Amino acid sequence: MNNTRRDFLKGTAWMGVTAMAAGCMSGALKITGGGTMLNWADKPLKKLRVGVIGLGMRGPGALHILAIIPGVEIVALCDKHPERVAMQQKWLRDNGHSPAKKEFSGEEGYKKLCEEADIDLVYNATPWHLHVPIALYAMEHGKHVATEVPAAFTIEDCWKLVETSERTRRHCMQLENCCYGEIEMLTLNMARKGILGELLHAECAYIHDLRECCYQDPDVNKPGYGVSGYMDYWRLKWNLAHKGNQYPTHGLGPVAWYFDINRGDRFDYLVSLESKAFGFKDYASARFPETWKARQNPAMGDMNTTLVKTVKGRSIMIQHDVTSPRPYSRINLVSGSRGILKDYPYQVALSKKRGDGAHEWESAESAEKIRKEYMHPLWKEAGEFAKVVGGHGGMDFLMILRLCYCLQNGLPLDMDVYDLAAWCSVCELSERSVRNRSATQDVPDFTKGAWMSGRPVVIEPVGLEKMGFKRDGEIKKDSAQLSV
Ligand SMILES: NC(=O)c1ccc[n+]([C@@H]2O[C@H](COP(=O)([O-])OP(=O)(O)OC[C@H]3O[C@@H](n4cnc5c(N)ncnc54)[C@H](O)[C@@H]3O)[C@@H](O)[C@H]2O)c1
Repeated sequence: MNNTRRDFLKGTAWMGVTAMAAGCMSGALKITGGGTMLNWADKPLKKLRVGVIGLGMRGPGALHILAIIPGVEIVALCDKHPERVAMQQKWLRDNGHSPAKKEFSGEEGYKKLCEEADIDLVYNATPWHLHVPIALYAMEHGKHVATEVPAAFTIEDCWKLVETSERTRRHCMQLENCCYGEIEMLTLNMARKGILGELLHAECAYIHDLRECCYQDPDVNKPGYGVSGYMDYWRLKWNLAHKGNQYPTHGLGPVAWYFDINRGDRFDYLVSLESKAFGFKDYASARFPETWKARQNPAMGDMNTTLVKTVKGRSIMIQHDVTSPRPYSRINLVSGSRGILKDYPYQVALSKKRGDGAHEWESAESAEKIRKEYMHPLWKEAGEFAKVVGGHGGMDFLMILRLCYCLQNGLPLDMDVYDLAAWCSVCELSERSVRNRSATQDVPDFTKGAWMSGRPVVIEPVGLEKMGFKRDGEIKKDSAQLSV
């Protein structure tokens, strides 16, 4: 098979809708800037004015978290379906918050939201094909942007986001909530303190049986809140059309933090291989025989395994499987010269001193002691509070909390546009590799050399009380928060 970039792009030309938006931006600000966005910070935005786009399964949970963060004003809401905007306005009123001053709907309502002058941050929880057009449009109109995962699917789009962020001096962050999971942050803390020694290898994944979710009939009048179907079956259609790993960042993002990717190390190249495609068709034939669903022939193999080598010699395995009857796992395994930590279930094995083996897992009691001793300071401070708020066990709250805290205090964000680009580049590169007998693919250096001097990510606690939170009484369980 011919392995040119042009051939690949031909095969994925329909993806290019994302690129079209860049060429048709009305009234965009003429912002000129340049230079790296690594460790870049804007002026403090004490009152943070937010517009939320996409109020389906994911958006409402994020909106409800944003609404409780002191200093955040929800200025505008937007969804293609006005019923969903109305539903969230009602939620805001019913829960003692001011409703958003502005409402937008329809296919291009997001443009009007981005054009509003009194918004600092655009928060985007729409389907995948809209991530890049909305991010570009928002930045061109002077807004910082935070986008759900994966924020981009092609190398071309990754570069567009990098270059637009650099030129407009606007943050472009990918909302990778799994970086804030309790075990992921424990791993980060232990890695930083050298407990695992020299870090050598990691294994991570997105293994999540999404067949029910993907085939479920969507209901416009009901935002998701669990399994209720993706609008227009967008996720099913994407997976039917693509090969490779189209959802790499839940596993890879945290690993990139442990390995200081873009801040001392970087992804060098990858290879990718996948099993045959069986699960989707099997499921649809069993559940919906004689329908369009059963007639589809999925491109995506059930299990994709991608291997990444870093410039500093580390290796990473990333897996993706959303079609097999398996319990959920992100694996989160890190192996170093002094031990190993993994999740699903959480286990750890440490050598007593340099050169010693670690042949047995620590006892449950000892592993628990390690978990408590090395719990990340952010989890120590805000973990219990985060668990009450919810959102994948609290990590959604911690991510949004840190995003708002950094913007309100004029700090660099925990994840920047280079992280977004490097993590998301796996989507196109794994597909290219799979379509070409697992041929090696180079990962571009989106930092253009700045990775050599970038400072490692440091996640500080936020000072919940100082931010204006009251710990007791005011937080209620919210049914909009997703659990897996
Ligand atoms: N980080 C996580 O844990 C996590 C979990 C779930 C979903 N997600 C991500 O969140 C995003 C949304 O997923 P979802 O499950 O909420 O999907 P969904 O289909 O339930 O919701 C998408 C919403 O976007 C709206 N929409 C569609 N086109 C629009 C347009 N042109 N303008 C404005 N709104 C539009 C739809 O009407 C719908 O309400 C995806 O990127 C997904 O990958 C992330």
